[in-house]
Amino acid sequence: METPIVVVREPGVTILEVEDLWKRYGAIQALRGVSFSLDEGEVRALLGPNGAGKSTTVKIIMGLVKPSRGSVRVLGVEATEPGGHVLRRRIGYMPETPQLPKWARVGEILEKYAALYGLPKNEISGAVRRTLDLVGLSDLRGRSVAELSKGQVQRLTLAQAVMHEPEILILDEPLLGLDPEGMELVRSIIRREAARGSAILMNTHLLKEAEDVCDNVTLLYAGRVMYSGSVEELKRHVSIAAILIVDVEGDPARAADLLRTLPYVEGVEIVGRRRLRVRLTAGEDRSSEISKTLVAAGFGIRELRHLEPSLEEAFLKLVRGGAYDLA
Ligand SMILES: Nc1ncnc2c1ncn2[C@@H]1O[C@H](COP(=O)(O)OP(=O)(O)OP(=O)(O)O)[C@@H](O)[C@H]1O
Ligand SMILES: [Mg+2]
Repeated sequence: METPIVVVREPGVTILEVEDLWKRYGAIQALRGVSFSLDEGEVRALLGPNGAGKSTTVKIIMGLVKPSRGSVRVLGVEATEPGGHVLRRRIGYMPETPQLPKWARVGEILEKYAALYGLPKNEISGAVRRTLDLVGLSDLRGRSVAELSKGQVQRLTLAQAVMHEPEILILDEPLLGLDPEGMELVRSIIRREAARGSAILMNTHLLKEAEDVCDNVTLLYAGRVMYSGSVEELKRHVSIAAILIVDVEGDPARAADLLRTLPYVEGVEIVGRRRLRVRLTAGEDRSSEISKTLVAAGFGIRELRHLEPSLEEAFLKLVRGGAYDLA
C-alpha cells in the first residue's frame, strides 16, 4: 500500500507550471522549449496544427513520456521526479486515444478509476452514479466498451477524467468525434469545472474551439510556443487586416482598380460576377469611405459587409510571418 503524500496547496501557488520542455524522439525534435502556466479556474488551450507537440506536452505532464529537458511543477511540487505520479491523482486526464479495456463494463471502469484515485469505498458508488449522469451514460452502465459508439467512448473517457473532481483537468482533443450535443456537454463540463476552481488545459487544432471555451491560448508550432496570452490579444498582436465584401453594380474590374488606388486598401480580388473581396490595412473602419468612393465614380452598391478576421487567419499570419525560425 502506497503512503499518500498530501500536498496542501498554498494560496497563490500556480497550479501547473511547465518550464522549458524539450523532447526528442530519435531524429524528431518534437518540443523546443515549451513553457506556460495554469492558474486556478483558468481554461487554457494548447493550440496548434497536427504534429505541433501538443500531445507530447501533456504526456510529459502526465508522466507518460520523459522529457529530454525541462520541468513540470504540479501544485508547486516537481512532478517529473520519482513519486510524482502521486501528484497526478490531483489531475484528471483525457488522453488523445482512449485506453479502455474492451470487455470491461462502463460502470466497472469508473469504479476501478475511483479506487485508483483513492476515493473512499463508501463514496465510490455515488461518484460513479453522478459521473455517469453528468456525461449522459447512465443507461449504458452495464455495456462493455466494445459495444459503445465512438462518441460514447469519448464521453466515458471524459467521465473518468472528471469523476474525482481534480484540481487540474487535461483534455487532449476532447471534442473530437462528438455530435453537437456531445460538444455542448463537454463545453458545459469545462465551464462547470473551471467555476469550481479547477485549472483546465485543453488540446485542440481548431482555433474556433479555443475561442469558444478558453480564456487563454498557448500557440504551438513545430514544438515552439509562438504566442501565449488571451485570444483577443492574439488578434491585436498580429493586427489582422479586416476584409470587406462588396457587391457592385458596374464593371467589377474597374471598381477593383479604383479601390486599389486607396492608401488603406492592401489588395482587391474579384471573387464573383460582381463581388469584390477588399483587404484593408488594420485600423479604423473604412466601409463608408469605400462606399462613397465607389458611388462617386458611378458604381451602385448592392451589399457591403465585413468579414470578421478569424483566429485561423491570425494563426496563419503568425506562422507565415517569417519572424520565427522554424528549422
Ligand atoms: N512516440 C513517438 N515516436 C516518435 N515520434 C513521435 C512520437 N510521438 C510523437 N512523435 C512526433 O512528435 C511530433 C509531435 O507529436 P504530437 O503527437 O505531440 O503532436 P500533436 O500536436 O499532438 O499533433 P495532433 O494534432 O496530430 O494530435 C510529431 O512530429 C510526431 O510525429
Ligand atoms: Mg495530439
